[in-house]
Amino acid sequence: MKDKKQYTRRNFVGTVGLATSGLYFMPLISSCRSDTASAHPNVGNAVNNDFNPDIDIQLKAVQSSTKILSDKNTDTYSYKGSLIKGGKQTLQHLVGSALGPIIRVNKGDRVRIRFENEIPAKSIIHWHGLHVSHENDGHPEHVIDKGETYIYEFEVMNRAGTYWFHPHPHGHTGEQVYKGLAGLFIVTDEEEKALNLPTGDFDIPVVIQDRTFDENHQLVYLPNGRMDQMRGFLGNRILINGKIDKGLSLNKDGKYRLRLLNGSNSRAYKLAWNTGESITVIGVDGGLLASHKTLPYLLLGPAQRVDVWLDLSKKSENEELKLVHLPIPLDTMMGSGMMGGGMMGNQSDNSLPYNSQFDVLKINVGTSKKNDASLPDELSAFTTLNLADATNRTFPRTFNFGMEGMMKWTINGRTYNGMEVADDEIVKLNTTEIWRINNGGNISIEGQNDGGGMMGNNRGMGNMMQMPHPVHIHQLQFNIINRNIENVDQNLWNAVKDGFIDEGWQDSVYLLPGMYMDLVMRFEDFKGLFLYHCHNLEHEDMGMMRNFKIE
Ligand code: C2O
Ligand code: CU
Ligand code: CU
Repeated sequence: MKDKKQYTRRNFVGTVGLATSGLYFMPLISSCRSDTASAHPNVGNAVNNDFNPDIDIQLKAVQSSTKILSDKNTDTYSYKGSLIKGGKQTLQHLVGSALGPIIRVNKGDRVRIRFENEIPAKSIIHWHGLHVSHENDGHPEHVIDKGETYIYEFEVMNRAGTYWFHPHPHGHTGEQVYKGLAGLFIVTDEEEKALNLPTGDFDIPVVIQDRTFDENHQLVYLPNGRMDQMRGFLGNRILINGKIDKGLSLNKDGKYRLRLLNGSNSRAYKLAWNTGESITVIGVDGGLLASHKTLPYLLLGPAQRVDVWLDLSKKSENEELKLVHLPIPLDTMMGSGMMGGGMMGNQSDNSLPYNSQFDVLKINVGTSKKNDASLPDELSAFTTLNLADATNRTFPRTFNFGMEGMMKWTINGRTYNGMEVADDEIVKLNTTEIWRINNGGNISIEGQNDGGGMMGNNRGMGNMMQMPHPVHIHQLQFNIINRNIENVDQNLWNAVKDGFIDEGWQDSVYLLPGMYMDLVMRFEDFKGLFLYHCHNLEHEDMGMMRNFKIE
């Protein structure tokens, strides 16, 4: 363990100092709560008067009660937003839903968010996909108690795109997201505004989540405890924007932008139009693609976003169009494992089996209403990162996502431990690197000293406990270089291979068992600690999450 660095309060504060000397005013967070828990009751509780925001929002996490199923209320959590400063389009409330408001901003906006925690648990908000400083990233060590406030102040540096926000308290992210804490954070910019893409009523959020309810209409989370946690939560009902079975009412002749977010805790979807038409994709996690892409179906892992173009001019009034989940042979892969009966969708708890078809989104085509949006050949002009610039192009920094021992999900054999960061998790500001993220430990780790011995265990567990891991990296958007499938089950691969989008900018990828991917990324603007983790929220809560440090 001597190669692991304990991230002490002293060097943490040092990092804050460095970051503050950069372009942006930092929020007034003066201490690291990890070792001074009660010494600073007003952590993050003051606004920085030198920061002059374009948008100022109060965002409260509250206990709420929501009519999800027919007539009875379900106990939920919600983010309630109110606008202190900014245009009225900034906050869009989802009426009748537990989910948070949609926050709409422009690139370049200076945003202040006053997060007030009123749920009976520690929490903190993470802005998933946004390029912000450590203090604004919602690190688990920045959690606040009920009654406390955390002030975020940052400039929106991201391209136009569909980002989102959700809680990030270590050990409880899954539970808090499950109860309703999540919202979309939509960025637009000049390039996108010049495009004539659908806006207003034709720009539609589609947050996809699975949930399970008991007879009293209350949410059920991990009924089988540790076993469910090892697998990740899988529900037996699909919610769209926090609502059940409702479907969207859209207009014939409308041209729509559907912003799909897989906000499920652990479930992935293989989405296709029930009509057999192909899906037209215009954007991914980090914004618009260079040009649109058509796919027979879409593989949407947890936390991933895909913007879909939908033209209803060829439909007729009262027609129903559906996005369905198509079967993926994931249920039985782990069937011989310790979970008995398969980890991925065991039918005894009445989950929607992966290897079945079910409806995800119903669209009712209503009366005709035209908008003048159009799908351009060129969506966005950008250059991706250059592999030749990578400092480690012949020896990618490798992270193995897998099992350690019998019942622990790990990254390179390690689990989350506060501010801890290991030597091989430290990168340099203003450098470009290749990261190889590997699910299964079947490849050799060269040039990496720590965890080598532990890999043996990973391999030993072999195929018995392999599961998909949806991997997410904070603070940046990366480009995908390649996807290695040599060790992926052929049957599984054939079922999903045409649903991946490897173009553009991403912050989350879906790693199948046995797969590794090479990602190229650049560390810019902010020093400090940021997370990378499995976005199966139960895996994340169990510690399949680590810091990397930019210095
Ligand atoms: Cu969407 Cu660290 O998470
Ligand atoms: Cu994130
Ligand atoms: Cu995982």
